[in-house]
Amino acid sequence: MLTHAKQRLKNPIMHAWIADRTKTFDSSGIRKVFDLAAKLTDPINLSIGQPDFDVPVEIQDAAIAAIRGGKNAYSPTQGIAPLREALRAQIDAQYSHADRDVFVSSGTSGGLMLAMMAMVNPGDEVIFLDPYFVMYPALLKMCGGVPVAVDSYPDFQLDPDKIAAAITPKTKMILVNSPANPTGVSATAEQLEAVAKLAAKHEIALVSDEIYSRFQYDAPFVSPASFNDQTIVIDGFSKSHAMTGWRVGYVHGPSEIMATMLKIQQYSFVCSPQPSQWGALRAMDIDLQSYIDDYRVKRDMIAEGLSGRYEFTLPGGAFYLFAKAPGGMGGEAFVKRAIERGLLIIPGNIFSDRDTHFRISFAASNETLKKGIKMLQDLHDELT
Ligand SMILES: Cc1ncc(COP(=O)(O)O)c(C=O)c1O
Repeated sequence: MLTHAKQRLKNPIMHAWIADRTKTFDSSGIRKVFDLAAKLTDPINLSIGQPDFDVPVEIQDAAIAAIRGGKNAYSPTQGIAPLREALRAQIDAQYSHADRDVFVSSGTSGGLMLAMMAMVNPGDEVIFLDPYFVMYPALLKMCGGVPVAVDSYPDFQLDPDKIAAAITPKTKMILVNSPANPTGVSATAEQLEAVAKLAAKHEIALVSDEIYSRFQYDAPFVSPASFNDQTIVIDGFSKSHAMTGWRVGYVHGPSEIMATMLKIQQYSFVCSPQPSQWGALRAMDIDLQSYIDDYRVKRDMIAEGLSGRYEFTLPGGAFYLFAKAPGGMGGEAFVKRAIERGLLIIPGNIFSDRDTHFRISFAASNETLKKGIKMLQDLHDELT
């Protein structure tokens, strides 16, 4: 029998100690973008998935006061009581569901991971739209789940008929993300209601990733939890308050599911960082309207700058626009050309089984956006 060290020598590609579950997904797509980005000095960067404003100063002060005040230990696994109670009050006012509990997670990503671990058995199918947030298929495969990506091209709508057609006896969960990364498309209330009722009818778990819920430009935000009281909602402060490095998210849904997720959190993330949670508590009192208004202006700028040249669906939310590469070019080839010019955008095939589109993040200064738009206009005109 070979020792692990000998196996490693035999197969230098994969270390013998690495578990099989890690072979089901890779991070090469994202790494490729980072590698390309590293080659650029001072790029026009329209690739970033976080707001271009800094954490509001009141939140910074609250976290600093927490640190100075000695609030540096573990918090209870479910989160500090004042934050959990503030979240509970907000959630109860919105839904008044009889059996809805809430806890604080280590970012929305932490909540997503716990949701998969708590609910997905090996072989279970999970339905979500393609294009999708990169983490979904990877997290599912880590749990032995089977990703069922429902093609939503060309308009990226949440089509309840397509979701219904993807349901099989093995379907365990439908995962919705509205407004969506990478398309920026917000589902309509009717679409969300239909999918919520579909999940209830088939007794399938419905998980709603609402990380972009504050970034809605044309209509009020609607959660599928309004139509299905068993919905598991995952949200957080990363995007709304530019707190991506602080790791504060929250999850609410049926109490037994929450208790199971907490059991896993206790033995993994332990808790969201305590000083960050005090910052998040302060964040709950901050009016985001002026930030959202600024982002609507940016959305309009990019949509106007690209219309007539690029094919895309107007983003109703988030801060992304997903456009088709011009002249029948592949998304990856187009992004290479853009990067050669110093414009950093992301190829659509990172988020999709197709390689036809690219993602622009308009979470950038208006100055940067204007330069990016001009480059995209010129690139289009040269390539067509
Ligand atoms: C759709 C979606 N869900 C979740 C996350 C992760 O957010 P967090 O920083 O709260 O883990 C992101 C981040 O890009 C996202 O786009």
